[in-house]
Amino acid sequence: MSVQTAKSREEVPEEISAVNLVDPKSYLEHDMDAYWRRLRADHPLHWHPPVDGVPGFWVVSRYADVMALYRDNQRLTSEKGNVLVTLLAGGDSAAGQMLAVTDGQRHKDLRNVMLKAFSPRALSKVAALVRVNARRMIAEAVRRGEGDFAAEVASVIPLTTVGGLLGVPVKDHAYLLGLTKSSLSSDEADQAPEEAFLARNEILLYFSDLVAERRADPQDDVISTLTASDINGVPLTDQDIVFNCYSLILGGDETSRLTMIDSLYTLSREPEQWKRLKEGSVTLESATEEALRWATPAMNFGRTALVDVEMAGGTIKAGDVVTLWNTSANRDESVFDHPYVLDLGRSPNKHITFGYGPHFCLGAYLARVEVKEMLDAMRTFTRGVELTGEPRRIHSNLMAGMSTLPVRFLPDEAGLATADS
Ligand code: HEM
Repeated sequence: MSVQTAKSREEVPEEISAVNLVDPKSYLEHDMDAYWRRLRADHPLHWHPPVDGVPGFWVVSRYADVMALYRDNQRLTSEKGNVLVTLLAGGDSAAGQMLAVTDGQRHKDLRNVMLKAFSPRALSKVAALVRVNARRMIAEAVRRGEGDFAAEVASVIPLTTVGGLLGVPVKDHAYLLGLTKSSLSSDEADQAPEEAFLARNEILLYFSDLVAERRADPQDDVISTLTASDINGVPLTDQDIVFNCYSLILGGDETSRLTMIDSLYTLSREPEQWKRLKEGSVTLESATEEALRWATPAMNFGRTALVDVEMAGGTIKAGDVVTLWNTSANRDESVFDHPYVLDLGRSPNKHITFGYGPHFCLGAYLARVEVKEMLDAMRTFTRGVELTGEPRRIHSNLMAGMSTLPVRFLPDEAGLATADS
């Protein structure tokens, strides 16, 4: 880690330096909205000091700066990790193989190969499956009357979606769901880091077996497309494919799940906005975009500087880790009118929930379909929901959201009658 600049040594007010962004507890204990407002206004390039043996890193909070850094894969790299856990450990073992932690020509080539697997044909098949699943699961949940929306609906739709895309047999979905939950965030505060490590390894092992099966007996799915692909005549290795399956399942599961949970929770507290959705005075598309901005499930991503980068009156030195906070950028008052107000008709709504630039989320289309179908089924089959208990928030320095959402559904009988059509 390089020597810090004068800017980094500026006195940081106590209420800012007291927030340890590496510790998942911070997000539950502090008023983070106030924190980000303060950073955007006064410390747009903030040096987060080393804490408890964890190295320091830069924190970028303004929308324009976050966009500029996402776009810049020349002076910044993802190959030393793109999330705090790997960035601060000094690297990612999948660098150069897994799309999100690969840069340069290899990233372009790999992204093109992966995009083949996300062909309009494959996506329209999966989108249709999402609609059927969302309608069925939500209709069943509404007919039961009460339940945990997180466990019964929001957990199942994303995994079924990415599972369907990858060709994961339905019988294995619940097993993989358990592993993805343990590997990224934690429903429990006291989960040991080794548990996350073991869960990640189990996912990799699971996909090694599936890749071997598909090589022997190709099907109409992403894994089979990847086993048949090459870059400049060199076929993808098993390990290349396994890392990218891992990335798709992790990237596509928790983020979408947290968005759906957050959307329903938020709508339960915003009757006016719910009314707009229910009555159709806002489009499903704009409601989906605002739900995505509001939830911002992936709070941050990060990069490592390859050269000195001047920004916001300071210098990110070559070798420094810099984190880009979607959470803050999506509430930047210089870009969004009344950013702390939920407005399902918001337009324009250029949120940064899916990142930006060369690493822009590969699954954005699918994630949008999932949220849209969930909102559509909710507004068709219900008159709304009432919370029946306090939701539990997850513990993570990467993801934000809730792991439970106990609700009572208020059925819309006329809408519900259309569920089976
Ligand atoms: C990349 C967010 C859903 C697969 C990203 C990035 C963000 C993001 C912010 C950029 C990471 C970076 O710049 O380092 C989200 C959110 C989602 C979502 C908020 C849901 C609401 C999905 C889904 C899939 C997926 C459903 C797969 C089906 C990926 C992949 C990348 C990525 C493969 C890496 C792209 C690259 O490096 O070129 N996602 N994602 N994501 N996402 Fe998503």
